[in-house]
Amino acid sequence: MQLLHIDSAITSDQSVSRQLTAQIVEAWKASHPATQVSYLDLVADAPAHFTMDAMAPRTGQTDGLSEAQQRENAVSERLVSQFLAADVVVIGAPFYNFAIPTQLKAWIDRIAQPGRTFQYTANGPEGLAKGKTVIVASSRGGVYSTSEGGRAMEHQESYLQTVLGFFGVTDVRFVRAEGVAMGGDAKAQALAAAAQAIEAHVKAHAANQDRVSQAA
Ligand SMILES: Cc1cc2nc3c(=O)[nH]c(=O)nc-3n(C[C@H](O)[C@H](O)[C@H](O)COP(=O)(O)O)c2cc1C
Repeated sequence: MQLLHIDSAITSDQSVSRQLTAQIVEAWKASHPATQVSYLDLVADAPAHFTMDAMAPRTGQTDGLSEAQQRENAVSERLVSQFLAADVVVIGAPFYNFAIPTQLKAWIDRIAQPGRTFQYTANGPEGLAKGKTVIVASSRGGVYSTSEGGRAMEHQESYLQTVLGFFGVTDVRFVRAEGVAMGGDAKAQALAAAAQAIEAHVKAHAANQDRVSQAA
């Protein structure tokens, strides 16, 4: 099983989402020992913002590509192939300015490719990245999940759910630590809740896999 571990927090060793993705990957490896992990740090290895030079996968242009187009398309190809090869993707998604970090958005712009992660059919769009499990480690300074007003303000988990769904990923799980900037106790509680969620998601997946392999 291939697991792709992605971090996008700018906060290095202070990062809550980096701590959570590391915990998720450790728990996953413990319950799925055959897992092979590849790692993508979107801050250390950030794709450039999406520009016209990166548009060839969308326009279908293959001939006469400029040097800049070839370079940018190679970046997109590397990222989309890596995503498509993974069975499980663990995404560190900090809550910055009501949404995700620009580095994570740049990655999504690179992997959103017709014919690779989605296609348009007579019946509308169809996601092509089917069969994956995605676990999102969501870290938030404030609390947004417990009120309608809060939920309306967040464009982080809701966006990821939408765009991953568009790519055909139906198994999207969230491990959330929220309120981490609201004092030491609130942060400790948030991390404890996230640790429980990690345990529950990883165990549930392992149990489901056992059922599937016993039925086969
Ligand atoms: C650039 C930046 C923007 C932030 N914006 C928000 C915000 O809009 N709302 C909020 O509740 N917390 C905000 N925070 C706090 C983060 O959500 C919180 O620190 C969380 O732990 C970030 O994940 P990280 O620790 O992995 O970086 C922001 C933090 C940073 C660094």
